[in-house]
Amino acid sequence: MAKRTIVSMPGDGIGQVVLEEAIRVLTSAGFEAEYIEGDIGWEFWRSEGNPLPQRTIDLIQKYKVALFGAITSKPKEEASQELNPELGDAGLVYSSPIVGLRQHFKLDICIRPCHTYTGNPLNFISRGVGDEIEEPAVDVVIFRQNTEGLYGGVEWSDPPDQVYQALMTHPKFKTNFGDTPKEEVSVSTRIFTRKATERILLASFEYARKYGYKSVTLCEKPNVIRETSGMMYRLAKEIQNRDFPEIQLWNTNIDAQMMWLTKNPENYGVIVAGNMFGDIVSDGFAGLIGGLGFACSAQFNDEGIGVFEPTHGSAPKYADYPESIVNPIAMIESACMMLDFIDENKIATKIRNAVAKTISEGIVQTYDMKKMKGSVDVLEKGAASTHQMADAIISNL
Ligand code: NAI
Ligand code: MG
Repeated sequence: MAKRTIVSMPGDGIGQVVLEEAIRVLTSAGFEAEYIEGDIGWEFWRSEGNPLPQRTIDLIQKYKVALFGAITSKPKEEASQELNPELGDAGLVYSSPIVGLRQHFKLDICIRPCHTYTGNPLNFISRGVGDEIEEPAVDVVIFRQNTEGLYGGVEWSDPPDQVYQALMTHPKFKTNFGDTPKEEVSVSTRIFTRKATERILLASFEYARKYGYKSVTLCEKPNVIRETSGMMYRLAKEIQNRDFPEIQLWNTNIDAQMMWLTKNPENYGVIVAGNMFGDIVSDGFAGLIGGLGFACSAQFNDEGIGVFEPTHGSAPKYADYPESIVNPIAMIESACMMLDFIDENKIATKIRNAVAKTISEGIVQTYDMKKMKGSVDVLEKGAASTHQMADAIISNL
């Protein structure tokens, strides 16, 4: 079979380390691929004034599948100060290359699975009947609409006249905000389109069917946010009724969901939400299964372009350690999601089993799993390095 070509985008800081380790695991598991490196991140902002160069976009367009480590973002002023002085007065403004990727390729489906690994010392525990300690097994897959809603970027402070006048035609705006001077008004919109909403809902139901989940939970707030959450709820009911009668549709409000996820996390299966609520609820569930060292994600569009990345960032404070201490599992799990995407399920299963075995053995644990505070000396105190954790997984393949 022809070798696959994968675009590898290490990015900044620990993104570079975890991606290298994940590729080592992929190769050891028998995944044959060629990796072409794509430039992304802070270094390219500084040197070229663009953290997402066109050549990287072209690579992804050509090869369709990309693994991504993490990038560093900094506030506006720092970004300008760090820019190569030769580019200084070109009027360049920093914007996140992750958002850029999502928008350019319309990577509208984001999946964030959160599964408990047996033996992970970071698993959520709760107190049950008779003060008994319980460790509920979480097996949740969050579908987050990735391009619209509150993160769509349509926003203003001191909005332009036309926008302000349009807002004033809404009775609630006029009554509640009409007395405030326009310069003191900031507006961030929450736009949902029918097509994108249907796509994320369908993707969630199809996933539930394929992997045998009995419920899809719509996690929004339709009782208050009537137009956007309301539309999503209506469409969810239609889709469930029409095409997925065997799957139950549950409806939770984001605020209540954040409470229930620590009370009965084992009850949930597939969860689907808009952009911001999906972001929130997926971080909430990730906290129950070990946090950033374990939180993986996939994002893809309707043309078969997919980008696979851990949820964590570049953790600059650990980036310059002589030996990296961070947990590579989130990146390795993201690589498994890539394998699912390109139908290399056997290799994905092999890697997941090796990760599970390594965690359940409890011998090799990174500092987060040892509940240590991150510092250079955690390795002396018995924590495994990033490299050692990958080695342990490889030896369990
Ligand atoms: P971060 O996710 O980089 O790190 C937060 C903390 O989480 C770390 O200090 C560390 O204690 C822990 N952590 C992160 N990854 C870990 C791992 N693999 N194993 C063990 N512990 C881990 O978030 P932070 O510090 O808020 O942001 C740092 C930089 O990363 C910023 O420039 C930010 O903009 C960027 N960022 C990038 C993201 C991405 O590339 N997708 C996502 C989040 C932040
Ligand atoms: Mg987040």
